[in-house]
Amino acid sequence: MHQLPLLSKIQLLHAVTETEIETAYGRSNRSFVIREGRFTPAQRKAFEQYWPAYGIDTDELQALDLQQYFSVQQPLVLDIGFGAGDSLLSLAKQRPDLNFVGVEVYRPGIGAVMQRLHQQEINNVRLINADVVPLLENCIASASITGVLVWFPDPWPKKRHHKRRLIRPNFLDQVQRILQPEGVLHLASDWQPYVVDMQEQLAAYPELKPFTSAPHPLAISRPDTRFQQRGLRLGHELSDLIYLR
Ligand SMILES: C[S@@+](CC[C@H](N)C(=O)[O-])C[C@H]1O[C@@H](n2cnc3c(N)ncnc32)[C@H](O)[C@@H]1O
Repeated sequence: MHQLPLLSKIQLLHAVTETEIETAYGRSNRSFVIREGRFTPAQRKAFEQYWPAYGIDTDELQALDLQQYFSVQQPLVLDIGFGAGDSLLSLAKQRPDLNFVGVEVYRPGIGAVMQRLHQQEINNVRLINADVVPLLENCIASASITGVLVWFPDPWPKKRHHKRRLIRPNFLDQVQRILQPEGVLHLASDWQPYVVDMQEQLAAYPELKPFTSAPHPLAISRPDTRFQQRGLRLGHELSDLIYLR
């Protein structure tokens, strides 16, 4: 059965401690920890100013018609855990013929991403501020999505934290369900034990087949980000895992 409803923007703006978020979400083993304190006034202002244009509210247990938030109806790609949004902006510019929905739990950064979308007049991106797992479970229709990108998900390296990793069966079940035939799942990580874990888990999803040739099935290139740079600085190998539904 479903978990709690997703939080409204108002609830999210006021639920500031990890305990409050945990209570509100009602989900243990979450893949994220809310580290930020309250919004700064500037972050709150940016969030409130741009959310009506770029945000998608998800406060009810009901299916979302994502296309209605875009002026042009075109295939949908989810960028899950978009962080500072550098990939999202790059993707939107690379493929103006796709609609991108960014999903992120970290709130203060979202205002800055929306400000950049506004300044750069990018119209094919919308944002959701929610935990992606209940979002997929409750709100996204089957076979409605062309691409799911999860780039540099938090690796949770300690064994006792592995259950917090996002790439787990509850998430992959949903990815398999929402991807349309020929849809693409693209994972990237610089933490090889997680890469191996991802590959082992995906072996249990025969409908998601490894894609190893070039070019990229979505005709995109993964841009450099802070997390990629950090991985390289630490001497980590980068891996991209691409699967076709
Ligand atoms: C390590 S960062 C990577 C950011 C970005 N993809 C990049 O490559 O620069 C992982 C991001 O995933 C977000 N995240 C983790 N679990 C999430 C979840 N269940 N739903 C939505 N976002 C999540 C975190 O808040 C964080 O911003």
